[in-house]
Amino acid sequence: MSSSLEFASISRSFGNTEVLHQVSLTVEPSCCVALLGASGSGKSTLLRIAAGLDQSSSGQVLVDGENVNGVPSEQRGIALVFQKPLLFPHLTVVDNVAFSARMAGQSRKAARQHAMSYLELVHLSAVAHRSPGRLSGGQEQRVALARALARNPRILLLDEPFSSLDSRLREDMHLLVEDIRTELAPTIVLVTHDRREASALADSIAVLDNGRILQHGPVAQLHYQPATLAVNRILGGLNAVPGELIGDVHHSALGRIAVQPGLVNGPAFLTVRQEAIRIVAPGDGTATGCVTALKSLGAHTLVHIALSGESGPSETLTVEVPGDPGVAVGRSIGLRPTDGCGWAVTR
Ligand SMILES: Nc1ncnc2c1ncn2[C@@H]1O[C@H](COP(=O)(O)OP(=O)(O)O)[C@@H](O)[C@H]1O
Ligand SMILES: [Mg+2]
Repeated sequence: MSSSLEFASISRSFGNTEVLHQVSLTVEPSCCVALLGASGSGKSTLLRIAAGLDQSSSGQVLVDGENVNGVPSEQRGIALVFQKPLLFPHLTVVDNVAFSARMAGQSRKAARQHAMSYLELVHLSAVAHRSPGRLSGGQEQRVALARALARNPRILLLDEPFSSLDSRLREDMHLLVEDIRTELAPTIVLVTHDRREASALADSIAVLDNGRILQHGPVAQLHYQPATLAVNRILGGLNAVPGELIGDVHHSALGRIAVQPGLVNGPAFLTVRQEAIRIVAPGDGTATGCVTALKSLGAHTLVHIALSGESGPSETLTVEVPGDPGVAVGRSIGLRPTDGCGWAVTR
């Protein structure tokens, strides 16, 4: 039942403001792509265009390779779940879920039977006959999901559907999305500004910044091989050590680190992730530094370090270690990036 979804060079302007610029992105059938970007980057506008609730200024939306630009929203086989559940307050939970089947002309009994199977999927059959006003926020969002799925969509678009839920409920919803993927395997575009949510749920992440896709790739690639400094920052990478690329080796206060081939020699930043550097004895690493601050994240600690350059302390670096790092502020330490994790960007 799932389809491919392709955005082919979609641009959208409101007046003189271009909020999407030649966005191209392909989502394969049954895959989940997370669209990750800050508030205002154009995520909702892109989903609304896919769902047929807004028109692009140029470019095409293709479903299974067919241009759907002129196809009315309800005939696209695309369901959109919003951040707010937007349930009909005057209908019971089951009748909310049965709504589109009723609109399609099914009998009340058949529509309700169909709806119940989706309420079971989201573990809400027990509240089927309640009014939505008596549900918790998490339950309301489950009903909204069931209602979207009951339309048998080929493509499911989720627009920050869990961002207003507390962290435990959000984790429950993440498990539910996994169940839905196993059970129904829809093609999913999940919009989020939370990189952890994107990483937990999606097969690949597309980073949208100011209406442009900066990079689309598998979750690990976005973390460890960012295309630009902006992608590194959006994926939570804390390090960008300036230096010089000579051959395929980056030279900086962190030492000489082999990086990916193919970059032009010259100034470049090393974006080695904070989790991919180990603290070792001074002299044992590729560089030495001095601990300037420690920040506990509970199970992990961020260690901020001033790297020792040739003319005294120069660049700063952050290392994330599990538990207690066993070093104090002011201590001299050695640093060693994990082999093979060197990555450089030029902008
Ligand atoms: N109907 C509209 N008219 C004018 N500007 C809009 C409209 N819809 C969205 N925008 C603008 O487009 C930009 C992107 O919005 P949006 O797609 O909602 O971003 P996101 O979902 O990433 O937060 C914002 O600057 C927003 O103000
Ligand atoms: Mg939005």
